[in-house]
Amino acid sequence: MEKWSPKLAIGQAHSKLILIGEHAVVYGAPAIALPFQAASVRVEITPLVGEVLFDSIFFQGILEDMPTKMKGLVHCIKAACQQLNQPVRHFKIKLISTIPIGRGLGSSAAIAVALVRGLFRFFNQPLSREMLIPLVDLAEQYAHGSPSGIDREATTSDHPIWFAKDEPTELVDVARPFYLIVGDTGRIGDTRAAVGHVRQLYQQYPNQTKVKIDQLTRLTVEARQHMMSGKLTKLGITLNLAQHELEALGVSDASLDHYITAAREAGALGAKLTGGGRGGCMIALADTLELARTIQQTLDDAGAAQTWQCAIKDGVCNYESQSSSAY
Ligand code: PMV
Repeated sequence: MEKWSPKLAIGQAHSKLILIGEHAVVYGAPAIALPFQAASVRVEITPLVGEVLFDSIFFQGILEDMPTKMKGLVHCIKAACQQLNQPVRHFKIKLISTIPIGRGLGSSAAIAVALVRGLFRFFNQPLSREMLIPLVDLAEQYAHGSPSGIDREATTSDHPIWFAKDEPTELVDVARPFYLIVGDTGRIGDTRAAVGHVRQLYQQYPNQTKVKIDQLTRLTVEARQHMMSGKLTKLGITLNLAQHELEALGVSDASLDHYITAAREAGALGAKLTGGGRGGCMIALADTLELARTIQQTLDDAGAAQTWQCAIKDGVCNYESQSSSAY
């Protein structure tokens, strides 16, 4: 039998959008997320004698010199090698990502997923979901503190998902196609700080904060019903109400509010922040391609750093177009 020898191995993962339920999901509430293939990560692993070299736009050098912010990836790589019974030596990792970091698009989870997939392919071993999840969580815990796990689930799913901590993830049916327009404020959000802020609110004002989390939970349940019955106008109203609660929790900001208002004025059925907030991205809902194009143009004209548009049809998120101002 031919002896296996390591050669180029590729691991990939796409980004994600949270439709509704972010922040509440940290407290066990459900959230709905969608795969977002418009932005993705590709990891290439090749043989190289000596220490592990990392090559990316964020950092180039040996693993031990990785900046503190990326240390979660070092833990993840070491744990994956341990699981694979391989030394943390003799390979090079090249990371190419089109997911802007810190924009609530799941960049850190997607990088970890692509990395683990690449390493298992490089060492020619099958990777089960049970193996992947704890390895990705290791990186995510470092990046986010106490992540709910929604990013890891959404970046590994090809369908819209219904996610609640410690419960099996379900697929969400979509009765009528809809369009989402994503606008990047260009501001790097800090999910860890935003989650910490909500936690602090919970400690200081438990009753008032619980009311908001409960309201987000109700809205998420309603959003799923509207998706399943194709009631897009109602879905839009639900998204607007969720934004209202997120603003009250202090996780929106002036840049998000600016693009959310612009999208609503352009006719969006609803608009809200997506992900951790305090910078990052917002999403707007449209029921026709024509309206989606108008909203995207409006966001571009309003100064968004980058915009995307995607159609959610037959349970799949199809990437349609990206703004010319994309970087
Ligand atoms: O990684 P982000 O910025 O998309 O945030 C994830 C969503 C939060 O609910 C804010 C945090 C979490 O771990 O669920």
